[in-house]
Amino acid sequence: MEFSIKSGSPEKQRSACVVVGVFEPRKLTLPAELLDNAARNYISDIIRRGDMEGKSGSTLLLHNVPGTLCDRVLLVGLGKEKEFREKEYCDAIRSAVKTLNETGSFDGTLFLTETAVKKRSVAWRIRQATIVAQETVYRFDQFKSKKDEVRRPLRKLTFAVERRNELAPAEEALTQGLAIADGMALAKNLGNLPGNVCTPTYLAESAQKIAQEYAADGAVACQILERADMEALGMGSLLSVAKGSHQPPKMIVLQYRGGKTDEKPLLLIGKGITFDTGGISLKPGPGMDEMKYDMCGAASVLGTFKAAAQMRLPLNLTVLVPTTENMPGGAASKPGDIVTSMSGQTVEILNTDAEGRLILCDALTYAERFEPDTVIDVATLTGACVIALGHVATGLFANDDGLARELLHAGDEAHDRAWQMPLWDDYQEQLKSPFADMANIGGRDAGSITAACFLSRFAKKFEWAHLDIAGTAWKSGSDKGATGRPVPLLAHYLLKKAGKLN
Ligand code: BES
Ligand code: MN
Ligand code: ZN
Repeated sequence: MEFSIKSGSPEKQRSACVVVGVFEPRKLTLPAELLDNAARNYISDIIRRGDMEGKSGSTLLLHNVPGTLCDRVLLVGLGKEKEFREKEYCDAIRSAVKTLNETGSFDGTLFLTETAVKKRSVAWRIRQATIVAQETVYRFDQFKSKKDEVRRPLRKLTFAVERRNELAPAEEALTQGLAIADGMALAKNLGNLPGNVCTPTYLAESAQKIAQEYAADGAVACQILERADMEALGMGSLLSVAKGSHQPPKMIVLQYRGGKTDEKPLLLIGKGITFDTGGISLKPGPGMDEMKYDMCGAASVLGTFKAAAQMRLPLNLTVLVPTTENMPGGAASKPGDIVTSMSGQTVEILNTDAEGRLILCDALTYAERFEPDTVIDVATLTGACVIALGHVATGLFANDDGLARELLHAGDEAHDRAWQMPLWDDYQEQLKSPFADMANIGGRDAGSITAACFLSRFAKKFEWAHLDIAGTAWKSGSDKGATGRPVPLLAHYLLKKAGKLN
């Protein structure tokens, strides 16, 4: 879809459809009022008759509105003005774009972007509208022989701003929004691909493609570590997870240098289990297909990387993706096996289904050689996190309160929220093993915390945060699919770091 920014009055737009908002009960927003004046109360008459109450998410499409230059007018309910917040704003954009797409408008001009959202700037409104619009038209139908074709899909969206001096920040926000939406689409595509297609090799090739795409600037490089490289490095923990699989494991290293040469990089690590059967500690059958999403951490850091490179952010960013399948088999790791991680610490594998931490710990140790300022790992790590926070908030753990605050704030800004959980030493005891330096599980209690505690033992050399996205990376049910989270959170964090947020 094409996007543009405009400032001008709604009645003068030559567009297939002009979209304006109505608050509940029956209160016109300013652009709606301007249209209504030009149309000699045509709109307020309709509203008075009760055809549009202004309820959040409701829409009413009007044809032949007098006094205007557009083919149609779409009224979108915004809910009560007092309760109009980020969520209501995004809902309104979503229903507008959905309706435009379904009702055969080739292009649309949205005046919803002029409506103030408490504490949010014009740039925020435009960035968010761009992301939501792209999300609304996203489809994953590459494996459908017959696609559900939209007859005349929406091709062009214009966002209106009230004042001319808002055009420049809005344009910049649009560019950012498009980059973030592209990063999310990449994350969703990778997540939605089935495990027989999206293998560790496929992820490595995708990373190389990203590197090629942005290679022109000379700022992006990609390196893939193979099994032999990992053996030489002593990544015994990661390799123990790959033992049961016929697919070779990979460690992806992607580097972007947009900052000063001597500036230390930010480092993102993504869990890349392309399918998690549980291994010998086999998972139950029902719903196991969803374990193709166990690489959504990897997908999200690759998506964030793409967004950062596309925005040419003035910072240095390194992405690490340890990736393998977790399969049972004659060669697979068994409960009770003891492995030596790259750090030298030994781990007793009490449950082969707690494999995410086993690949992440070696990536954390490998991260040390990049002398990063900050390391953030992203992982569909524990079912326990879903029990704790459901599908709303990502679980956040950190060994540094400043970093935790920055990430919480970024999540808030991006409406891709996280919630901090404790990482107190008291929980470390649950990881005690009689035979090795630690066990890979800490029992049922506080499952997402003990998983984070395990990781913290490999993250002593830098500021580190861990995002458990088990509940937020994908949706189950009839409209199942990857969400692209937490690309918005991470992208906002990077934008803020780069001083590019308005
Ligand atoms: N990939 C799973 C975590 C998961 C489970 C994500 C359900 C989303 C939904 C992870 O590898 C896993 O299996 N974790 C175990 C850990 C346990 C054995 C300590 C879990 O959560 O059950
Ligand atoms: Mn598992
Ligand atoms: Zn897993």
